[in-house]
Amino acid sequence: MSIRRLPETLVNRIAAGEVVERPAAALKELVENAIDAGSTRISVRIADGGIARIEVEDDGSGMTPADMELALERHATSKLPGDAIERVTTLGFRGEALPSIASVARLTLESRMPGGDGWKRIVDNGALVAEGPAALAKGTRVLVEDLFARLPARRKFLRSPRSEYAACLDAVKRLAMANPDIGFSMEHDGRRVLDVQGAQDRLARVAALTSRDLAANSIGVDLDRGEVHLGGVISLPTYNRGVSDHQYLFVNGRPVKDRLLVGALRGAYADLLARDRHPVVALFLDVPATEVDVNVHPAKTEVRFRDPQLVRGMIVGGLRRALDEHGFRSVQRPAEAALAAWQQEPVAPAPADRLPVRQCAAPRTRRASVRRRHGARRRRHRACLRPARALHPVARAARGPRRGRGCAGPAGRGASARHRAGPDRQDLYRRGG
Ligand SMILES: Nc1ncnc2c1ncn2[C@@H]1O[C@H](COP(=O)(O)OP(=O)(O)OP(=O)(O)O)[C@@H](O)[C@H]1O
Ligand SMILES: [Mg+2]
Repeated sequence: MSIRRLPETLVNRIAAGEVVERPAAALKELVENAIDAGSTRISVRIADGGIARIEVEDDGSGMTPADMELALERHATSKLPGDAIERVTTLGFRGEALPSIASVARLTLESRMPGGDGWKRIVDNGALVAEGPAALAKGTRVLVEDLFARLPARRKFLRSPRSEYAACLDAVKRLAMANPDIGFSMEHDGRRVLDVQGAQDRLARVAALTSRDLAANSIGVDLDRGEVHLGGVISLPTYNRGVSDHQYLFVNGRPVKDRLLVGALRGAYADLLARDRHPVVALFLDVPATEVDVNVHPAKTEVRFRDPQLVRGMIVGGLRRALDEHGFRSVQRPAEAALAAWQQEPVAPAPADRLPVRQCAAPRTRRASVRRRHGARRRRHRACLRPARALHPVARAARGPRRGRGCAGPAGRGASARHRAGPDRQDLYRRGG
């Protein structure tokens, strides 16, 4: 079997298999490009969960027609001026996203630099089909249509438009959360689903993109350890979710779904939450670029830390301390307020003329008040609650062995009347007096 070099289109499709797994992955790449281009406003419009159409428009730097041609070639990037990939500060660095997307869909790239003319290139499943002038404001517009239309095997693995849409919205939300200085808007099938203005601070942006209740149920985090900084908000253990989708984690402004970070988060809440419950968090970890390798995952969603123990220790220790300061100890300790409110029910000392009553779970109080306060449930205990009165020796002898349910009080017809009358008159009652 002889070895051959694969054609460019096939190479791109193979790369696309990893980079563009679903519409949300393509959308994420396009929005990342718009962020890297220094945009102040990014507009996203998608149709049919992004399967039929994804459009991303920005007001960033734009590209020259020559750059647009290069941008659609593999391994062509403007983001690595030197060869030091370990010092990358942009979201993109591989020069792979645009050619990968263009090899599995119809991609229209339009761009204009300030002071220049607009230009357009259309690539349909890897083949250039048109190019020419375009009318647009400064910036770039990318349109992706019919993703995987020529790859039925890939299209078959897409979920329903509804879940693809949810994944698209999540991807935009995460990038918007990491870039509060940029304004974002998103429309799905013509309906506005997200709109945030630029120039916000981090916490305001988090609040705008998460549940309204989070602000009232969260704690701010702001920790430094050497050159590493951890900031953001974490929910109180009492505010939790059945799924971990509401955990927004960022490393150097890059949304990640990193196992180390998720594990550290779980460790911080370990004693405070059941295993199937998850806190809601938006945590931003900033580390020197040389301390983290971002080139370990095809979709750039995982990172590798040079010192994972430092990061883990900082998250677990820092979050536990923050929770502890808000009265949530890892080994649960009742809150001061709860202890203060705790009162023991007063028990009146038994009068000297009463014999001890039978031991019963119900509190020993006067019958009338017990009935009034505890109602029907307590009535079952009536017999046991009835205090044993010191009977006149003659009456006790006449009564014979105790009847009823072993209760110290008298039982039977008319017993309560006799009982109320007290020990001195019981013999009279018994005689019919
Ligand atoms: N919206 C945009 N505005 C300006 N330039 C862009 C835009 N999108 C892409 N480019 C240019 O096209 C180049 C190629 O983009 P592409 O996304 O394929 O690769 P990348 O962003 O460099 O790396 P990665 O594959 O990791 O995303 C970029 O380096 C950038 O110079
Ligand atoms: Mg890119």
